[in-house]
Amino acid sequence: MATPFEAVLILDFGAQYTQLIARRIRELGVYCEIQPYSTEIKDIIALNPKGIILSGGPSSVYEDGAPHCSPQILDLRIPVLGICYGLQLISHFLSGRVEPSDRREYGAAKLKLSGESRLLAGLPPDFPVWMSHGDQVAVAPPGFKVTAATDNALGAVEDVGREIYGLQFHPEVAHTPDGKKILSNFVKGICGCKGDWSPASFIDMAVTRIREQVGDGRAVCGLSGGVDSAVAAALVAGAIGDRLTCIFVDNGLLRKNEFEKVLKSFADYSKLNVKGVAAGERFLTSLQEVADPEMKRKIIGREFIEVFQEEASKLGEVDFLVQGTLYPDVIESQSVKGPSAVIKSHHNVGGLPEKMKLRLVEPLRELFKDEVRAVGRELGLPDELIDRQPFPGPGLAVRILGPIDQNRVRLLQDADDIVREEIEGAGLYHQLWQAFAVLLPIQTVGVMGDQRTYEQVVAIRAVESLDGMTADWARLPFDVLESISRRIISEVRGVNRVVYDISSKPPSTIEWE
Ligand code: XMP
Repeated sequence: MATPFEAVLILDFGAQYTQLIARRIRELGVYCEIQPYSTEIKDIIALNPKGIILSGGPSSVYEDGAPHCSPQILDLRIPVLGICYGLQLISHFLSGRVEPSDRREYGAAKLKLSGESRLLAGLPPDFPVWMSHGDQVAVAPPGFKVTAATDNALGAVEDVGREIYGLQFHPEVAHTPDGKKILSNFVKGICGCKGDWSPASFIDMAVTRIREQVGDGRAVCGLSGGVDSAVAAALVAGAIGDRLTCIFVDNGLLRKNEFEKVLKSFADYSKLNVKGVAAGERFLTSLQEVADPEMKRKIIGREFIEVFQEEASKLGEVDFLVQGTLYPDVIESQSVKGPSAVIKSHHNVGGLPEKMKLRLVEPLRELFKDEVRAVGRELGLPDELIDRQPFPGPGLAVRILGPIDQNRVRLLQDADDIVREEIEGAGLYHQLWQAFAVLLPIQTVGVMGDQRTYEQVVAIRAVESLDGMTADWARLPFDVLESISRRIISEVRGVNRVVYDISSKPPSTIEWE
């Protein structure tokens, strides 16, 4: 669908850096969308992009079954930039020669300019770039000028007349420090984008679209206490006002006092009509004696749907369900590689729309997480909602290993709250993707006073991450770990040992279950 913004389209050939290209272009204030390489030419024309970028990818253009987009892309009179595999594909289409490199190049290289270039305008005569390729363009297509090279390979080509450009290296990664200038030359200099993409302009567009979609219908939204559902709801409320009702369910597995805190934040915001439903007992009863993590998720998902349905049915006729789906979820589900294997079944409200015959409103489908935060700020949502660390839908259930009961929930809530206080006190909350406590299903021997104890173990997990897909354990200062441990053991009755999790994702995951 065409957007009211100037858009750049990225066709994805399966590179690990494709999302990063989109990030960089959006940082230039230009709206940018990723579509699979196989997108039909009519859909590309319908999007009306000001420029097209062909991404990198792991294949060889000349192999059987290698991903090829339609060569007609090069005849649309829309500027095209090929990056790595994208450049090789352009060369392949236009009678250049692509062959395996004598020496595979992976890592930093020095690029030297060889004459005038529109794409590389304003750059120094040589500069560092990041290479990652097994094939190379041995002979550029007729009509193309080679504008830069490394010691091993052709680095950049252009045919200014036809507005087709190519780079063998990756301008989107931090290891190409001048990469942003090159992308800016393409999207602003060559494609002529003005860069008018901003949270405020996004909100205007989203409100118009939501009004068109919902008409005079009614919508309901399940709030999780996290930023995505809050921003999605605030946008929809901006469009349809009190025809949106939000439901926030306490499943008894939230953090300490979180139900009350979140309801208060929403009450302070005042633009959302939020109904809090205290249903903790019901969830805990269904979870009795359940130890298997996926079983816990299924039960919580099922209970949630039931509670939500009961509440929604009290509202009378409802037509739409608002969800805070983000762009990485959308890309993942339509990626070149296909939907990735389900490691944990995260989407515990999946059955809801079909069951209730609701149509989905997903106003954040085009945004990355930090863009969602920027939109939330622009909408005036309170900081404590916007800057909150992610929290899983099944809540503490996947942090209490083994069966769950009210005592174990309380114990973990108390330990977790100490982690939060100490991390916030040390000024680390915003640097960490998540920091939390996990209750292990074992007891260990300790000594308190003159008494032998045999009590519970709490593990601390703190990770740094950009998107939750990969994560590194945080190198927390020892004195922060020391006060977390000392406080949990002395203040939380029933715990006599605290351990720190030093595993990264992959191969571990962030949550323990
Ligand atoms: P993992 O444990 O898969 O977590 O490394 C990645 C991110 O997802 C969150 N997570 C969940 N979120 N329902 C959710 O809504 C779930 O079942 C779930 N499991 C994990 C996790 O907190 C982390 O941010």
